[in-house]
This record gives sequence, C-alpha cells and structure tokens, in this order.
Amino acid sequence: MLRNNITEYGLIAKIFHWATFLFLIIQIPFGFYISDLEFSVERMNFENYHNIGGIIIFYVVLARLIWKFLNPAPKNNSTVVWQVLLAKLNHFLLYLFVIVIVISGVLKKFFIEEPVNMLFFNLQSSKTIFKLSDIFNELHEVGVVILIGLILLHVFAVIYHHVFLKDKILKKIL
Ligand code: HEM
Ligand code: HEM
Repeated sequence: MLRNNITEYGLIAKIFHWATFLFLIIQIPFGFYISDLEFSVERMNFENYHNIGGIIIFYVVLARLIWKFLNPAPKNNSTVVWQVLLAKLNHFLLYLFVIVIVISGVLKKFFIEEPVNMLFFNLQSSKTIFKLSDIFNELHEVGVVILIGLILLHVFAVIYHHVFLKDKILKKIL
C-alpha cells in the first residue's frame, strides 16, 4: 500500500520518514565533528560533503511535504486535545527547523563568497558580508540544538505511547 490510509502511513511516507531519520542521524554528528576540526584541506572536503548531505535532506523534505499535501496523514486517535495539538506542533516544527538549518547553512557559506553546491546548480556570491554570515552561522547552531530537542520530544512521546499507553502509534510508521 503506497498511500496513507486512515489508520496507517503508506510505504512512501514511511520511506520518507525513515530516510530523513537516517540522514539526520549521520548529518548532525558529522556537523559537530567538522566544527571541531582545525582549518585544513580535509576540513574543506568534509564541509563539502556536509553541504551535499544537507541539500539532499532539503530535497527529501520538500518531496516529503509535497507528498504529505497530496496524501493526508492518518487520523490521530488521541482524545486528549492538547496532545493532538502538541503532536501537530511538534511535526510542524520538525519540518520547519530542518528547512531553517539547511537555509542558514547555505547562507552562511554564501555570504563569505564560498560556492554552495545545490546539486542541480551552484550558488556563488560576489560580495562578502561577514555580519550576515555570522548571523546565519548562529542560526545554524541554535537551529540544530532546537531540532535535537524536538527529535527527543518526538521520540519520547512515541516511547511513552508504545510502552505506557500500549497503543498502535509506532505501528503506523513501521
Ligand atoms: C539538515 C541539514 C543540516 C544539519 C542537521 C546540519 C548540522 C550541523 C551541525 C550539528 C553542525 C555543528 C554545529 C555548528 O557549528 O553549527 C554544523 C556545522 C556546519 N554546517 Fe551544517 N547542517 C546541515 C546542513 C548544512 C548545509 C546545507 C550547509 C552548507 C551548504 C552546512 C554548512 C555547515 C558548515 C560550514 C558547518 C561548520 C561550521 C563551523 O564550525 O564553522 N550545513 N552543521
Ligand atoms: C527513533 C526515531 C523515531 C521514531 C520511533 C519515530 C516515530 C514516529 C511515529 C510513530 C510517527 C507517527 C505519529 C502519528 O502519526 O501520530 C511519526 C511521525 C513523524 N515523524 Fe517520526 N520518528 C522518529 C524519528 C523522527 C525524526 C528524526 C524526525 C525528523 C524530522 C521525525 C519526523 C516526523 C514527522 C514530521 C512526523 C509526522 C509525519 C506527518 O507529517 O504526518 N521522526 N514518527
């Protein structure tokens, strides 16, 4: 079953969900690793891989959002209104922060005239604006910390449902 139905996510949504998870679980530690390296050719190569990884995540999330728009999510079975709203807010913020992190990563390189590989084209500025690059650098870092918090909240909510409420929420996406 490719499409979502009222109780479960379809195969395409499941692949999108777990692909995002897999990419992020590599991209986040890799980013921290790079930011600790001294300036070197190796670091520049790693930054390029990190750039490409981030852009792949960006396109996956865009495709995922288009699919979500065409194919609404299964019904939330909870009768507790605040939990339904919190889950919706958490999902919205997960999408939002992945996008904020990618765009800030792109712009922090862009504003110091570094070429940015967007896979289908390259972005290259002809003017350096350190101040803007610094702001996007901060946003990239803060965005990552917030995203990690959102993922932890998401995973704890799923564990709570699975272990304590013993409902079928995890089965929806497996
Ligand atoms: C979802 C996608 C991405 C995630 C989860 C991510 C995550 C991270 C993390 C955890 C760090 C280390 C903390 C920091 O210094 O900010 C980092 C650093 C960095 N990221 Fe990303 N990143 C993503 C996308 C991108 C993209 C698309 C670019 C550029 C096109 C980029 C460029 C960089 C650079 C240059 C650094 C090193 C910063 C420094 O220490 O000077 N990132 N990223
Ligand atoms: C071990 C890790 C994870 C588990 C067990 C998990 C589990 C789940 C489950 C059970 C749902 C269905 C919730 C529902 O429909 O009520 C879901 C949805 C979702 N998950 Fe995860 N997830 C994990 C990691 C992630 C990560 C890393 C992200 C980061 C972007 C993420 C983003 C989402 C989003 C955005 C939805 C909502 C999908 C929609 O738009 O309807 N998940 N996840």
